[in-house]
Amino acid sequence: ALAQTLAGERVVVSAGPTYEDLDPVRYLGNRSSGKMGFAIAAAAARRGAEVLLVAGPVSLPTPVGVSRIDVRSAVQMRQAVLGALPADIYIGAAAVADYTPRTQMANKIKKSSERLDLDLVRTPDILAEVAASEQALKLVVGFAAETENVAEYARGKLLAKRLDMIVANRVGIPDGGFESDRNAMTAYWKDGERDFSSAPKTELADRLVDLIVERLNA
Ligand code: C5P
Repeated sequence: ALAQTLAGERVVVSAGPTYEDLDPVRYLGNRSSGKMGFAIAAAAARRGAEVLLVAGPVSLPTPVGVSRIDVRSAVQMRQAVLGALPADIYIGAAAVADYTPRTQMANKIKKSSERLDLDLVRTPDILAEVAASEQALKLVVGFAAETENVAEYARGKLLAKRLDMIVANRVGIPDGGFESDRNAMTAYWKDGERDFSSAPKTELADRLVDLIVERLNA
């Protein structure tokens, strides 16, 4: 049996995309499958943590021993995550929309003119809010999906959002990233980093939780 290395720890994990509704039939979404976040929630529960998974719109079964709240938009995800505090560990694995329509149309947008401009506004940064929360956590972990300059952008986010750790993965490659069952990634913290070579997401989740336990005890 696995050592119960997270026994007594309350872990909140966000996973999946968010959908930002334009009208009753259309939304802005992204290609996140939620697989990585769900695998992390499962791995943390296997170590004895009390796990709450805040899930965007995905079609994945709830992992054994995990509580789940389903949400749709970034604003709903923020409400569910902040409402789940206090917690010991937050792992922000969701691909939260960066922009959402300024207004949501009550009725279907009809096609008329040749052009349609969307008016979008920034969403709240859930991860940065959790990291800055009065309800101090022991460990706040973010994810960064990048197509280039992976290390540089990841370390930038680690500092800007005041995280304890950031896990970067390259997206837009054939073997890994969004939708894939496999991934390769690198975790960065203030004075260290660790590479995780290409493996199934379930395997990577276990190795990442090992690192989280190490950093928690560091
Ligand atoms: O800045 P960027 O969106 O690349 O950062 C990614 C990390 O920030 C992920 O952990 C994601 O869950 C989190 N995030 C968030 N709220 C947002 C945007 C990103 O929590 N509005």
